[in-house]
Amino acid sequence: MRNKIKQYEILIKDPFVARHLPETYWFHNKSLLNMLNKHQVIYLKPNDNAGGNGVIRVKSLNNGTYQIAYEKTTKQVDTSNIGSVLRKIMIWPQKYIIQQGIDLATYKGRPFDMRIVLQKVLKTWRVTLTSAKVATVQDAVVTNVAKGAEDFPLQKILQEYDQKQEPLAAFREIIDLSHQIASILGNQQAIRIAGLDIALDKIGRVWFVESNERPECSRCKLVNDPISVKKYEEARNILKRSK
Ligand SMILES: Nc1ncnc2c1ncn2[C@@H]1O[C@H](COP(=O)(O)OP(=O)(O)OP(=O)(O)O)[C@@H](O)[C@H]1O
Ligand SMILES: [Mg+2]
Repeated sequence: MRNKIKQYEILIKDPFVARHLPETYWFHNKSLLNMLNKHQVIYLKPNDNAGGNGVIRVKSLNNGTYQIAYEKTTKQVDTSNIGSVLRKIMIWPQKYIIQQGIDLATYKGRPFDMRIVLQKVLKTWRVTLTSAKVATVQDAVVTNVAKGAEDFPLQKILQEYDQKQEPLAAFREIIDLSHQIASILGNQQAIRIAGLDIALDKIGRVWFVESNERPECSRCKLVNDPISVKKYEEARNILKRSK
């Protein structure tokens, strides 16, 4: 399901999962003003684009102006022209969503999020691959591997990241949430694989960013242990045979 708002609408109905969803709306003038008043950082994203293209970050600065960042560009604007500047940057004819920014945790100063791959083998979801995607630079807007982010073993990053708390507790939370999300989305859609983007913020909260139906796993496989990779391949073979 390449449809972020649809995923959000399904998941927000579950009170336990809802706590892990950044506030999200369709982009329009009213939601823009409302979100700028509420959050210091917001993200604008194509509802169904791939690989970090077209993602825009807006930060409120203290002097009443805003910093807009996308790809390798940053601009400063004020309230009077923010809407028109954003509209020029947005990729046409994509429909955009607007989302509360997550203050991503960092590894050696570079923000990261995580990829948790689950596969539905027979009737149950299994976690197969996991990785942490660490952005190329300190102030990166996105952590997509397609945009150069580096894959690391998740356990290494949880043990070594800059705001490290309790790695095992964090891991348990991440896996538990991923299972809940795969199972809810799987009840609504005929999906057999879910590549979840899960984020940790600097104070240790776990957030759901999005789910990909056809996650790119080749590089993620390289940072996993042989048992996990075998589990992933077995699940893939079973799924192929059952098609
Ligand atoms: N609300 C947010 N707060 C902080 N960072 C975000 C937020 N939303 C997205 N990002 C960053 O941008 C990246 C890309 O966002 P997202 O995964 O939602 O879109 P995408 O990868 O372009 O979409 P798709 O995978 O559907 O093609 C994330 O991996 C994360 O690094
Ligand atoms: Mg993504």
